[in-house]
Order: sequence, then structure tokens, then C-alpha cells
Amino acid sequence: MKILILGADGYLGWPTSIDLALNKHNLLLIDNYEKKKLMKKNYRKPLVLNKKIENVIPVLKKVNKNVNFKNIDCSNYKKFTEVFRKFKPDAVIHFAELPSAPYSMLGYYEGWKTLQNNLQSTFNLVWNVKQYQPNCHIIKLGTMGEYGTPNIDIEEGWINIKHKKRSQKFLYPRQASSLYHTSKIMDTDLIWFFSRLHGLKATDLMQGPVYGIYTNNFSTENNLEPTFAYDDMFGTVLNRFIVQAVANIPLTVYGSGNQIRGHINIKDTIQCIKLALKNPSKKGVLNIYNQFTQQFSVNQLANKVAEALRKINLNVKIKNIKNPRIEQEKHYYNAKNKGMKKLGLKPTLLTEKAIIEMARYVIKNKKNIDKSIISPKTTWK
Ligand SMILES: NC(=O)c1ccc[n+]([C@@H]2O[C@H](COP(=O)([O-])OP(=O)(O)OC[C@H]3O[C@@H](n4cnc5c(N)ncnc54)[C@H](O)[C@@H]3O)[C@@H](O)[C@H]2O)c1
Repeated sequence: MKILILGADGYLGWPTSIDLALNKHNLLLIDNYEKKKLMKKNYRKPLVLNKKIENVIPVLKKVNKNVNFKNIDCSNYKKFTEVFRKFKPDAVIHFAELPSAPYSMLGYYEGWKTLQNNLQSTFNLVWNVKQYQPNCHIIKLGTMGEYGTPNIDIEEGWINIKHKKRSQKFLYPRQASSLYHTSKIMDTDLIWFFSRLHGLKATDLMQGPVYGIYTNNFSTENNLEPTFAYDDMFGTVLNRFIVQAVANIPLTVYGSGNQIRGHINIKDTIQCIKLALKNPSKKGVLNIYNQFTQQFSVNQLANKVAEALRKINLNVKIKNIKNPRIEQEKHYYNAKNKGMKKLGLKPTLLTEKAIIEMARYVIKNKKNIDKSIISPKTTWK
């Protein structure tokens, strides 16, 4: 397939690109290194910094000559359109967004930058598909955070509403708790608008917080390690906990720690994307999957990390700190996630072995840990 990967340099985009390159797809990778720039500007740095794509393309070309890269800002209509029209993709995987809730809540500039970047990239994509490549399948990374924490079960994207003896299926209600998550809700609405009016084929993957490292022999042998963030702004909760445990600082649980979310191992993210590629939606249909494998409260995650890593003699402590976010701490949470399993997803579970495997990777890179960037600095006030 001819696949355009937007945001190919990111935590999820890079391992997806390597996997699809090894599977001999014809790939055009796009990124403008916005994440790297933002991390630098905000004095955050990853545990492992992946090399710039243009510097490693020759290595990828040894296994697949049909892999190319363009440094393009997807929110720039003219430049994006030029590349899109030339490449004519069968599918586009859209990761190219600013994915940080804390960053989006820093202030006016950061909030607007998140909304502008994410919406404009998505709008440029759907517009181009409608104009120039209407059979192209759009695979868009959404987030479980779009749903918030409603007091009813979270269905997979849609809900049937009965009202005064009539009924209709609608998008499941969404109510975010950060401007980043709000940008994702707006993306979903935009994609649904274009699917229903213009018959586009789209899949929206409502993904939970991702944890872990996705690497394989090819990446290790060729020094193509993925990026791995653990700071308060760009790192997800479990990745932060593992780094805190290895650095011998307490795992910081925000507030009471009763907040529940659906989590997913990065290995399963790649599986899900490949399943979405194999199962495109029909024209005019927006397929929505809840992309997570297990639900945990923050306390459960912290306890699992502590128990597993004490077995390799790490002295793990847990500390509750004032919640920097405005969010419900005690709430009902029961989200459905059958769709991906029906397509064939074999979940990777959060076992002790999996936690220890992640910790070993972090231990290998322990010298890079900067303890000063893990505690939260952004509040929702
Ligand atoms: N990581 C998670 O836990 C998680 C969970 C749910 C959803 N998601 C979604 O998955 C997607 C990828 O997440 P990630 O963790 O890999 O993020 P990331 O920040 O590591 O990767 C995003 C990449 O997109 C690039 N990018 C951003 N704006 C761009 C633009 N205008 N033009 C070109 N490139 C641009 C960035 O430079 C970065 O390399 C995001 O849409 C995010 O909302 C991630």
C-alpha cells in the first residue's frame, strides 16, 4: 500500500514507520519536528532521543527502497497539498498533533497553538482527501480522553438515543478536561462531517494512555531506537512511574489516585494500526474503536510498578501529591473495547514481566534521567 504517515518522528509514529517499512509498504514519512522543538523550548528532554529521520533514511532504504521523508508542517495547506497530490496515498495515518494536556493548559499561546495545529492539520488532511483522493482511508489517532468520565458506560464511539418514541445513533457525548483533548473532540467532529457529507472512509482510534517501548532487532542493530519521554509534560503516567522507580524517587500520584483510565502497551498500538489498515471503513462511514486493553486507577498502576520492581531490588516508594489538574477523582468508569479484539487484536497485558522489561530498558539509559523534569509544573488554574 502507499501510506502517508503524518507525525512519523513521534513516540508512536516512528515505531509504526519502521514496522510498516519492514512490511515493504510504500511509505512517505512526514514530520516538522515540532515535538522536539517544543520539548527543547520547555526545557524537557527525552530519556532516549531518536535521530532525525533524514539521517536514518539510508538505513531504512536498505530494507525498503520505497521509504521517503519530507520535513513538512501539516498545518501549512500549500506545502501539505503539494506533497499529498504528488504521493496519492491509499491510506494516511495521522499522528501529527500536539498531544500534551499539560502543555495545552500552560497559557493562552499554548492552548491556541494546540487547537490551531491539531485542527488545521486535520482539516488540511480531510480537505485533500475529499478533493484529490476520495478513496484514501484516513486513520486518525483520537483519544479516550475525549469521552471524559461520564456516569454511564462508554460505548465505542457511538450511542443510540431514544427520545419521545424515536431513536437515532449519534456520536457518543464527549466532554474533555483539557484543551488538548478538546482539540481531539473537534477533530472527530470534523472527520465525521466530511465522512457523512462527502463519503470519505475514516477510522478514528480512541486511544488510552500508551506505555512501553517498541523496539525490535532491526531497530536495535541499526541504532533506530524510538523516543521515550518521561517528563511531566510529554510523558505518560506509567512511563513516568517506571523512570521514577529507577531514579529512586517516589512515584508521584496526582490527588487521591482513584482516577481510572484505559491503558495500552505501545506494541498493541502498532497491532491496532495494522488492523485498521487491513479493515478500512466503507465510504461515508466513520469507524470508531476504543483502543485500550486494560483499565486501571492511578493507584493500581503505582502499586503494580512498586510490586514488580521490588522483585529486582528497586526500593520503590509512592507519594500522593496535590492534583495539578481539574478532573474527577472518584468516578464510574466502564469503557467498551470489543472492536479491535473482533478484528484480531491479541492484547499485551501489564504483567510483572512487562514492567520489569520496561525498567531494564530505562536502567540501560539511567544516566540520561533528569530528576528535575518529572514533578508537575503546570496547573489547570
Ligand atoms: N502517546 C499516547 O499515550 C497517546 C494516547 C492517545 C492518543 N495519542 C495520539 O496519538 C498521536 C501520536 O502521539 P505521540 O505520543 O506519538 O505524540 P508525539 O508528539 O510523540 O508525536 C507526534 C509527532 O507529530 C509531529 N507533528 C506535530 N504537529 C505537526 C505538524 N503540524 N506537522 C508535522 N508534524 C507534526 C511532532 O513533531 C511529533 O513528532 C497524537 O495524535 C496523540 O494525540 C497518543
